[in-house]
Amino acid sequence: MDVPIEIKNLTKTFGDIVAVREVDLGVHRGEVFGFLGPNAAGKSTTVKVASTLLAPTHGTVEINGYDVLEEPEEVRAVIGLLPEDGADTHYDRLTAAENLEYFGRLYDVPKEKLENRIEELLEFLELADRRDNSPGTFSTGLKQKLSLARALVHDPPVVFLDEPTSNLDPIMSRKVRAFIQQMAEGSKQTYFMCTHLLSEAEHLCDRVGFISHGRLVEVGRPAELRRKFWTQRTFELQLAATGLTKAQSIIKSTGLVLSVQIENKRVVYVVEKAEQKNPEIVRALVEAGLAVVELRERIPSLEDVYLKVIGGDS
Ligand SMILES: Nc1ncnc2c1ncn2[C@@H]1O[C@H](COP(=O)(O)OP(=O)(O)OP(=O)(O)O)[C@@H](O)[C@H]1O
Ligand SMILES: [Mg+2]
Repeated sequence: MDVPIEIKNLTKTFGDIVAVREVDLGVHRGEVFGFLGPNAAGKSTTVKVASTLLAPTHGTVEINGYDVLEEPEEVRAVIGLLPEDGADTHYDRLTAAENLEYFGRLYDVPKEKLENRIEELLEFLELADRRDNSPGTFSTGLKQKLSLARALVHDPPVVFLDEPTSNLDPIMSRKVRAFIQQMAEGSKQTYFMCTHLLSEAEHLCDRVGFISHGRLVEVGRPAELRRKFWTQRTFELQLAATGLTKAQSIIKSTGLVLSVQIENKRVVYVVEKAEQKNPEIVRALVEAGLAVVELRERIPSLEDVYLKVIGGDS
């Protein structure tokens, strides 16, 4: 399998602080991977090591097959990085467009291609009217948009984004998320992003990893993590006519559920192994002459899963 980001047994210490502890992780081509965890968990440190800004203490990171310690130049050539402090890393003596041009040239992007790419990014990020202004005159959000443009200006195959939407307004955040999704489609680019916005990770990321105290504690697709941590699932059942109490007692008498009650004109029950038991429950109701209109699961959010995993860990 094509694994452009390969982290093996990575540990990074700062004196006595173990910021990242024995992390193993592979991110597949075309994947959008979300890195989640509390403050000081080790997210940014991992990104810094993977993008050659910090050397690993133990272990290795390979980007597109290049080792971050042995082949840093090759690694830098294939990555884009929006650093955590991305809003404050521009050259204020240059204009916004010149900043992008400068970085594009560092990456040897051919002139015409670079010009087109800069126009496209400035247009997309709604920075075109500020192209000739110094980033020193920008608001935090505008600076962050310029950082994002800079991370993408050379069209890198692997992109690291450390909290990409933290300073963006909701409309721009949504636009940036749609853009990331579009770029990762068809395996054009691979994204590794740190975020505190769990709904963002839930909608955007193919897989997420939870890191806590430097340790990677869980990795999986949001739906997989839900299944793993929510073995007891909750369902809401709606009936065509009255009969709620009858339905409740039938469900109870099957002995298949952990609890059953009536809430807002619906029967709500909690069950384990729902895929086996739900059909039996519905059959019992139908055989008793009740018409089931809707059976809907109350799906926990990624936030619920996160709180369960991280909350129980610290
Ligand atoms: N240059 C450094 N020197 C000393 N300690 C550091 C350094 N950089 C990070 N640390 C420590 O390493 C730990 C992990 O920090 P890191 O920035 O990776 O956390 P994070 O998960 O990105 O947190 P946040 O969500 O707040 O951005 C913290 O305890 C931090 O204080
Ligand atoms: Mg951070």
